[in-house]
Amino acid sequence: MTTIHPSVLEKESLRLLRDALQTLESGFSTLPDTALPLDERAMARVLSEVAERLRDNYPYFHPLCAGQMLKPPHPVARLAYALAMWINPNNHALDGGRASSQMEKDAVAEIARMVGWDTHLGHLCSGGTMANLEALWVAGRLHPGDKVVASQQAHYTHSRISGVLQLDFESFPCDRRGRLDVPALAQRLALGGIGTVVATIGTTATGAIDPLPELLALRERYGFRLHADAAYGGYFTLADDLAADARKAYDRLHEVDSIVIDPHKHGLQPYGCGCVLFRDPAVGRLYKHDSPYTYFSSKELHLGEISLECSRPGAAAVGLWATHRLLPLVRGGEFAQGLNSSRAAALALYAKLRTDRRFVTACAPELDIVVWAPQAARASDASEIAQRIFSEAEGRHLYLALAHLPVEFFDLPAAGMVRDRDTIACLRSVLMKADHRKWVDEIWRILDQATGAVLSGR
Ligand SMILES: Cc1ncc(COP(=O)(O)O)c(C=O)c1O
Repeated sequence: MTTIHPSVLEKESLRLLRDALQTLESGFSTLPDTALPLDERAMARVLSEVAERLRDNYPYFHPLCAGQMLKPPHPVARLAYALAMWINPNNHALDGGRASSQMEKDAVAEIARMVGWDTHLGHLCSGGTMANLEALWVAGRLHPGDKVVASQQAHYTHSRISGVLQLDFESFPCDRRGRLDVPALAQRLALGGIGTVVATIGTTATGAIDPLPELLALRERYGFRLHADAAYGGYFTLADDLAADARKAYDRLHEVDSIVIDPHKHGLQPYGCGCVLFRDPAVGRLYKHDSPYTYFSSKELHLGEISLECSRPGAAAVGLWATHRLLPLVRGGEFAQGLNSSRAAALALYAKLRTDRRFVTACAPELDIVVWAPQAARASDASEIAQRIFSEAEGRHLYLALAHLPVEFFDLPAAGMVRDRDTIACLRSVLMKADHRKWVDEIWRILDQATGAVLSGR
């Protein structure tokens, strides 16, 4: 059984927050005092209650929580975000968040440079959904009346967003690697009426990367808008050890029209931090509006002039800016090493699964997500066993996920399995935490025990 130590939550860095607060306060020392009296005993009571309530959570921060897309914010992001809370800037307008707006512009430019853009238009927002909504809103304005298409493995947000924007949406099948089926798309494009293609760079379920070079060739011919949903996979452009197809896609990412990358997924940020980028800054004209309430202080760009959301946490920009200062977005740097290590963790787990006859694997992971099914007589039996292993592992403090995937993703005939349904409920692990590489053996040990217990009927 895994021993859980009492010091699982890092607390030492809180000292740094107090020091930084003093530096911040000294910038306002000429103002008269305003500090309100606090009822510390009442607050302590409430906070203790909050802490009790928060215990009713999975340990999202822990490497044994290896099922979902969950990566704890870097301590510097957490502290910088908290520090900004004492000011609570609003990045809607320079009037509400002067310093944090500049930090947002800097941090977003760094993400743009990471994908190869020296000029761009872009900003932070609440997450991947909002960022994709803005990209599809712009796409719809530029291709009115035309359809948006994405693969069946694209995030469900694209069909929902298209509904909100009243754009027609069509989804396309995938190949057995979970990538958009380019020949099927090519046939459909010839019929006309497609204005936007969404390429997913790192699908949510398996981390698959749509074949960008082929999609760019089709854009050349049909003139649609190409949007990259790299909410999950975007940062992997910095990784060293991608397979050849994935590297080819990343090397041409700068050619798409818009990109979404979520700092709150692989960018070590607290939730509430997505990022949308446009290659052509001229799309800013589509946002044009006038406000009688804000925008008094400067002729410089207020971020609210180029975003659909109004009030936004300046603190999110501060956290991201601080993280980039500590861990610049460069190949070979510490941040990039973290991505290499996540990939190494996924490949190590995949290697163990592949050589174990109790399991059937899908294709090799393109990023750091691994999916596998238990070997069984039929796909339906495998699905049921996967559910039981999932629960058994959870009882042993290993938190995996279940994903329903097309049976074609798995080579069932080679495993002697009968296809009695179209999808299979398989096990899934997202190895995105910095130290996951070190935890693969422990993850495997618990998975092995949990599987043994299920298969022996214990
Ligand atoms: C590829 C992809 N796009 C979009 C989203 C939606 O992002 P969010 O949950 O930040 O709104 C996700 C979420 O997992 C995703 O994986």
